[in-house]
Amino acid sequence: MLGWKQLAGPRAARRRVSEGYNRSLKQGLFITLEGIDGSGKTTQLHRLETLLTDRGYAVTLAQEPGGTRVGREIRRLLLDAASSDLRPIPELLLYFASRAQNVEEVIQPALREGRVVLADRFTDATVAYQGYGRELGVPAVRQVESVACQGVQPDLTILLEIDIETGVRRALHRNAEQSDDESRMEQESREFHERVAKGYAALLAADPERVKKIDGRGSIDEVATRIEAEVDLFFAKSSAEPGG
Ligand SMILES: Nc1ncnc2c1ncn2[C@@H]1O[C@H](COP(=O)(O)OP(=O)(O)OP(=O)(O)O)[C@@H](O)[C@H]1O
Ligand SMILES: [Mg+2]
Repeated sequence: MLGWKQLAGPRAARRRVSEGYNRSLKQGLFITLEGIDGSGKTTQLHRLETLLTDRGYAVTLAQEPGGTRVGREIRRLLLDAASSDLRPIPELLLYFASRAQNVEEVIQPALREGRVVLADRFTDATVAYQGYGRELGVPAVRQVESVACQGVQPDLTILLEIDIETGVRRALHRNAEQSDDESRMEQESREFHERVAKGYAALLAADPERVKKIDGRGSIDEVATRIEAEVDLFFAKSSAEPGG
């Protein structure tokens, strides 16, 4: 069986895109990027978007929180450094409120059209940050998920692994260059970030078929190459499965 890489190199795919060609999938695919703050999710989301678009896939971005108008309003409340009075349970509900809007408005319609949906954080992040980080526990997160997500789950999750110091340093450096103050999470304690990392490790252990750990160290290009290899494997495997 030929993998998608052999079927069409980037140049061939770009040509076909310009000719209006789109690879059509019978069913859409949902790929998420996860990892602690500053692990490189947003950077790699855009790299992956370019890679898949060049290969002729119809790609939809569904960023979290903030992929919709409603989500952007909620994002302001969630990430603003001034929201220090936000309690853990309302925080959990706000993340899922934004996600529920994203599921209905963006993700489900795109999957129905056979598109590849790429999201920067999804429910795994809430398990890690609210379930473990805020110590609300996984069952509380799963309860709200069952209402908010309507069964939508990622087919593949790229978990970017980086040490906490590097992640926080990268995130603070980025925040310093941005005008908006979205530093609430980066201001959390070392213990909080350690619990979040433990949450991600638990998710990886519980679902190794879906969650793939990628080394987030090194240059942006090096990390992008590692992600590309994992995504290649995933596409080769899905096209080998009946109906895939
Ligand atoms: N491999 C890398 N090496 C060096 N710097 C990087 C790398 N990847 C990303 N960065 C930089 O680190 C900062 C944080 O990256 P990015 O915003 O992609 O992380 P993130 O995981 O989305 O963070 P957050 O959880 O806060 O949304 C950015 O300024 C980005 O340009
Ligand atoms: Mg980000």
